[in-house]
Amino acid sequence: MSRGHEIRQQYLEFFATRPGAAHRIVAPAPIVPPDDPTLLFTSAGMVQFKSLYSGAIDPLPYTRAATCQPCLRAGGKGSDLENVGKTLRHHTLFEMLGNFSFGDYFKREAIRWAWEFVTQVLKLKEDRLFPTIFIDDPEAADIWAEETGAHYAPVPLGAKDNFWGPAGETGACGPCSELCYFMGSEEDLAQIKAMFKESKEKALATLAKRIDQEGDVFLEIWNMVFPQFDQQRDGSRPPLKNRGIDTGAGLERMTTVTSWQEGLAGTPYETDLLWPITKAAAELVGVDYVRVLDDPKREHATARLGVNAITDHTRALCFCLAEGITPGNVGRGYVVRRIQRRALRFASLLGQQDPFMERLVEPVLDTMGATYPHLKAQAEFIKKAIRIEEASFLKTRNRGMKLLDEVIAQTKDAQKTTLDGAEAFKLWDTYGFPKDMTKEIAEDEGLVFDESGYAMALAAQKERSREDWKGQQGGAGAEFLEKLEAELGETTFTGYKSTSQSAAKVIAIIGAEGRVDAAREGDEVTVVLNTTPFYAEAGGQIGDTGFLIGSAGENLFEVEDTQKTPKSLYLHRGAVVGLSLKVGDIVRCEVDAQRRMAIRRNHSTTHLLQSALKKYVGSHTSQAGSFCGPDGLRFDFTHPEAIDQATLRKIQHEVNTYILQDAPVITEVMPLDEARSRGAIAPFGEKYGATVRVVQMGEGKDRVSLEFCGGIHLDRTGQAGHFRIVSEGSVAAGIRRIEAVTGERAVALELEEQYGVVNPLQLQLATKGTAVVERVEQLTARIKQLEKLLAQEKSKAATANLDQFVAKAFSLGDCKVAVAHIAELGPNELRTVATTLQQKLGETGVAVAATESDDKKQFVVACGAVALKTHPAGTVVNKIAAAFGGKGGGKPELAQAGAKSDLPLEPVLAKLSQLLA
Ligand code: SER
Repeated sequence: MSRGHEIRQQYLEFFATRPGAAHRIVAPAPIVPPDDPTLLFTSAGMVQFKSLYSGAIDPLPYTRAATCQPCLRAGGKGSDLENVGKTLRHHTLFEMLGNFSFGDYFKREAIRWAWEFVTQVLKLKEDRLFPTIFIDDPEAADIWAEETGAHYAPVPLGAKDNFWGPAGETGACGPCSELCYFMGSEEDLAQIKAMFKESKEKALATLAKRIDQEGDVFLEIWNMVFPQFDQQRDGSRPPLKNRGIDTGAGLERMTTVTSWQEGLAGTPYETDLLWPITKAAAELVGVDYVRVLDDPKREHATARLGVNAITDHTRALCFCLAEGITPGNVGRGYVVRRIQRRALRFASLLGQQDPFMERLVEPVLDTMGATYPHLKAQAEFIKKAIRIEEASFLKTRNRGMKLLDEVIAQTKDAQKTTLDGAEAFKLWDTYGFPKDMTKEIAEDEGLVFDESGYAMALAAQKERSREDWKGQQGGAGAEFLEKLEAELGETTFTGYKSTSQSAAKVIAIIGAEGRVDAAREGDEVTVVLNTTPFYAEAGGQIGDTGFLIGSAGENLFEVEDTQKTPKSLYLHRGAVVGLSLKVGDIVRCEVDAQRRMAIRRNHSTTHLLQSALKKYVGSHTSQAGSFCGPDGLRFDFTHPEAIDQATLRKIQHEVNTYILQDAPVITEVMPLDEARSRGAIAPFGEKYGATVRVVQMGEGKDRVSLEFCGGIHLDRTGQAGHFRIVSEGSVAAGIRRIEAVTGERAVALELEEQYGVVNPLQLQLATKGTAVVERVEQLTARIKQLEKLLAQEKSKAATANLDQFVAKAFSLGDCKVAVAHIAELGPNELRTVATTLQQKLGETGVAVAATESDDKKQFVVACGAVALKTHPAGTVVNKIAAAFGGKGGGKPELAQAGAKSDLPLEPVLAKLSQLLA
């Protein structure tokens, strides 16, 4: 079997432990970048480090890092979605290995280590490795020649290939140097070599072309960016504060080439990273999957293509859903929907008409769950979300079928022979009705399919969704919206005090293709009204939902989300549920009042939470983002470390006290200066006009909060009912997040804990109240005592057997080093093992005792009187612990250290002679 899972480990280990490298292993960031609103998804390993390059974080917590980062490249800039399946190298979700430097090492070390890893660890054949460089970077070419044994001079490429970044709109970018692995035939390789002999220039020019055109043959496996510019919004590129290294090495690709070289797997879908999923997908859709290695002519490519896409997409879906990104009509949700529907479309083309996809979740969890346990934790949710979206697809597919029949009839009636491409695209875009199905059916009916019309509509849509994200508005493009703003002006918002409005006029409807006069049942459109009570998402408060209602009281339009343009033109997005909706219609607006009330509870409570945080954690805590929805609230704030339970309890109590005070909530619009002089808190980085809206809770000396805010609040704090913190954690370096619930949810949570946890515990332990805690403490103490006894027994057994380690001792200069690795020893026992072992080795002995339990590692080093002069115990123990990101200290004769890391102990201990040299 190929060894993708092993390569992941080897890479991290290499950069953590290679002498001279010592990178900090950093956990991957979520798929949704926590602090970069210009980015749809985490699309590269460097995303979580943007502020380390720019210098926004100072001092730097570390200057070298290595990660394995799941990246999603679908939707928005640099989407690979449409390529997945068609090529073997593109994925929506893939794992990117990266070593990073922030103002630390630069090109030389990066290139040297890259070469060392691929040739010595992966053992890739050197004559199949082709480096490339940025055309204006002769320095990189020199380094390749000086630092590596590369067979070929690097191929110079232009900015399209070898200038990377930024991720999103701003930040670190710079020239790159890549490594491509040649997967072509021996004959082809011989010709390339001959060409180099004949003329280097000619060979480089030919290779530049081939690398560009034959991406699956010259597989790019390693990209080193040398970020040195800091792209600004205005297009300028000043030097980057902490220039450095940003490596992106695709795990799937490295696994593919390593196993291809070993004759094991020809594509990523056949490696251990994906094969269990591929195999299950093929079985579920009834395809006899012929592996590429058994099919050198690639005759089965078409059948494979669909299965590969389903495989890739299901895995990506699991990652998205595990983070709660569910299919929807805007932003990230829209991308997730497209990923799933693309997979379903392939399944349907391969003949699978029934639901099947949920059954692929287990194979995904089996392959990825050990590395990404959060997937397993969300297994049931993932399955459910996949099931629901699949059912909805199957329904729309039937609806699309009916519409397609109509379009075909109209085409024939008009005596045309070509089925309009734009219509076909609409079927896909609005109803999820697959193009290939449309095409097939049209051709069966004797019609020609208008490929170019389809391609144009697709390109226009792509442009729209790109613009869309830029404007953070969803739906139409930024330019289009500016025009609309200029024509229609600002919407009058009437919703601060009410959730309904008896008459509003529909002044514009925007469909997938632009403005329309009317929309029919089922159409998903955006509606603009002259006046509205629907709150548009802003300041962390989610947009309102509800209905637009006709004169006979019938629901006309379901508002699924409300957004607004920068100039406050309100956009109601959703679906027509009545027969039709026309520009000029007068409608009644009904906001979902219950949902709105829940949102108000959460919003007002974030203000109270902010006050309590300032009181108990400190006045330095400033808001770094928030979200108030109907189900709960999220509040991000600056603070360098975790907040302990006792403080959290105080904060929770404080907020509940504010709620019980039932303080009035007063909103006022006032001049900016006045708001400032009254001491109102303004979120950092926002721009304000001459007058601002200020929300105050409590009056006079009882004032508990005063904040700039445009959101909708409770009338009195008492309406929040109850406040309950659900979690506290870190979202980025220096930023913490509290998640909490209010109102009914908070009460439900308390009850659930009482009846689901506390009462059963009381019964089980046959005791009540705080005695339960005491009892658990006693039990824990007893377990500890027993563990200690066990450890003593173990150490007795261990010290009795130390001669085996002495036998394996190696020399280090004039010293002798012996290593004892014994599982699950306590600190005292570990020390005994170290000192006993040292005594056995004598005065020149360096005894290393190591143990681990879960991800906790402990080391003790004991040195004899001679050894400690050249190899003091503190130095030795720190060298070892540093490989796992830990450190320690002690005396020259005895020192200890600890570390928390998932890296296994054994490989590092096995290489100890190198590490200590
Ligand atoms: N940022 C670069 C990439 O995504 C290297 O990590 O390719």
